[in-house]
Amino acid sequence: MKGAMFGPFFVSEEMSDNDKTESYGNEIIAAIERATGLDEIEKIRVAALGRSGVVTGMMQALGKLPKEDRAAAGKSLNALKTGIEERLAAATRKFEAAALDARLKTERVDITLPVKAGITGRLHPISQTIAEVVAIFGEMGFRVAEGPHIEDDFHNFTALNIPPEHPARQEHDTFYFPETAPGQRKLLRTHTSPVQIRTMLKEKPPIRIIVPGRTFRSDHDATHSPMFHQVEGLAIGENIHMGQLKGCLIEFCRAFFAIDDLPVRFRASYFPFTEPSAEVDIGCSRAGGELKIGAGGDWLEILGSGMVHPKVLANCGIDPAKYQGFAFGMGIERIAMLKYGIPDLRTFYDSDLRWLRHYGFTPLDTPSMIAGL
Ligand code: PHE
Repeated sequence: MKGAMFGPFFVSEEMSDNDKTESYGNEIIAAIERATGLDEIEKIRVAALGRSGVVTGMMQALGKLPKEDRAAAGKSLNALKTGIEERLAAATRKFEAAALDARLKTERVDITLPVKAGITGRLHPISQTIAEVVAIFGEMGFRVAEGPHIEDDFHNFTALNIPPEHPARQEHDTFYFPETAPGQRKLLRTHTSPVQIRTMLKEKPPIRIIVPGRTFRSDHDATHSPMFHQVEGLAIGENIHMGQLKGCLIEFCRAFFAIDDLPVRFRASYFPFTEPSAEVDIGCSRAGGELKIGAGGDWLEILGSGMVHPKVLANCGIDPAKYQGFAFGMGIERIAMLKYGIPDLRTFYDSDLRWLRHYGFTPLDTPSMIAGL
């Protein structure tokens, strides 16, 4: 008899075809319930549904039945087959989950154990730089805020005073998702500024946030990567003025580059979401073709800033007659390259362990203002 692993089957010649089907089914199901592992489940599957399995055999025998009985027998046989398949799948899931649990138990790592001496793991310069920026602004009373990478037009552009026809949109080389409805499409945020909007919409001033995070633009060469990082700053209050913007950013530049007398210059500029706007340059020297940060008669642009545009405040339900604020944004890769002398942006994402050993940081040296950066 085929499928001997279920035998002896309680079928007899007097039984109707339906009863036989049921009897086979009950035994197969009982076998699945008795099974203690994936191997047995597989054996049952082969014995029941495999090429020479019991159910397969019964299916083939259908053709020999009298025509008038065929439909009913076929129907109950199909129901049996589906029932068996479902139970096999459920049992497979159960045993797989149990196997995974067992494996996770044996592979458990206690992350609270002290680090072994000689460990070679390194912090990526991006992580290190973000930690440094957060430490500096944290000391000034800014807290970290975050927002989604997938944004909509309103948060990334419109609320920031960049309406659909605004030329600034072209400069952003935006990655768009397919339309979900006419005129409705999500995008990958092109800057961290949408988090300004998200924060102002849900919180009341005073606000002081710093927003490190990933940003995306369709651009790729030695100084541009389609994915890069920015850090955004936002301070909103009743008496915020440009002097505070300047003070915070001068202090930041000097602390970050660890140069007490680093020259910092504010150059009038334009952003749709700030008015007035200023780009910030730090002093450097390019003598002999070598770039050196510090007093040297030359300038290097490192960030964008300005007083939050009254329209942006109003777009977020904040009364511009009562509140003012400043905002700034900078590229993390750029300041990391300058501080740590990393020449090519693309190497940040090569995942080359030799590069990481060279430019990476000891993971337990948390940057702080007290310990020095
Ligand atoms: N979002 C701007 C950019 O990506 C930077 C910026 C932020 C400028 C905040 C001013 C104020 O270029």
